[in-house]
Amino acid sequence: MSNVITLFELVQEDLARVEEKMRQAGREAEGPLGDAILYLLSSGGKRIRPALTIATARHYTVDEDALVSLAAAVEMLHTATLVHDDVIDGALLRRGNPTLNARWSAGATVLAGDYIFARAAIFAADTRSVPVVRLFARTLAVICNGELRQMFKYYDLNQSKQEYYERIYAKTASLFSASAELGALLAEAPEEHVIAFREYGHNLGMAFQIVDDILDFVSTEDVLGKPVGSDLRQGTITLPVFYYLQDGGDQEVILRVFNAQDTAARDHALATALEAIRTSGAIERAREEAWHFARRAQETLAVVPATPYRDALHDMANYVVERTY
Ligand code: IPE
Ligand code: IPE
Ligand code: MG
Ligand code: MG
Repeated sequence: MSNVITLFELVQEDLARVEEKMRQAGREAEGPLGDAILYLLSSGGKRIRPALTIATARHYTVDEDALVSLAAAVEMLHTATLVHDDVIDGALLRRGNPTLNARWSAGATVLAGDYIFARAAIFAADTRSVPVVRLFARTLAVICNGELRQMFKYYDLNQSKQEYYERIYAKTASLFSASAELGALLAEAPEEHVIAFREYGHNLGMAFQIVDDILDFVSTEDVLGKPVGSDLRQGTITLPVFYYLQDGGDQEVILRVFNAQDTAARDHALATALEAIRTSGAIERAREEAWHFARRAQETLAVVPATPYRDALHDMANYVVERTY
């Protein structure tokens, strides 16, 4: 954890420009929509994805304005997916603040998310790079498909672990992968480096989502700033559940959550299930799997130029697994 500060320190000035660019988009929108965008931007967020874009681009010389636009595009795309994800999940808290859907209707919230997607696309187009815009659009398509696939697999205990991996790639790792690749693409890095950064982001993103899924079991709402236990509550099967069942955990414990007749019964069943999974070896096994992806991410960096940014990306892979929120 200690060294990750280096990545955010290294990109601090660039990120400040990205922040200002995004706020500008909020101010332009005006009215309730503009207020909503400024509210979302001021609510925090780790800014990992734009930091990745900046870090890979900064291995090379790059057009400064285009880089700021691109990093803003990546973070705005992420912001929009969170807005939509919280509507889908019915989540009322994000980054310690009420979500948009806690205050607005689902319809209005979805439209606000669409607007933010569109604004992100304009930022991507501001780079004047067709390969950048293509990867940006392709990633958004993959994310939508991933979120839908998750919805179609709610409550399905028979799904394969392969299905889980494909899903977390689509909903999360694809954007990490694109964030890292886009910076290198913009800087017109050699093909071999572009591929390495793509793979780095992919593996980092897999580790990141596995840890997000672990935190949903072991953390608290206060620390995370978002609801916990929510995956199981809504029927999303994640890696700790696979390992729990694989190690002979009682399937009934999970099914009682899914089949509960009312909220009180579900809360009770959920508390029991969370405790059962927390005290099984499932969390440890899932964390091992996250480390596996993090180490793969670090290995992919071997072929890119040795720079302080590369070292910071290396440390980032440790941070992603060790993080507590
Ligand atoms: C949350 O991402 C969504 C997932 C992919 C799990 P982050 O944890 O990066 O969210 P913020 O931007 O820091 O709030
Ligand atoms: C996030 O997955 C996927 C997105 C594309 C936003 P989660 O549903 O696990 O994210 P959180 O836990 O709500 O942040
Ligand atoms: Mg969610
Ligand atoms: Mg989650």
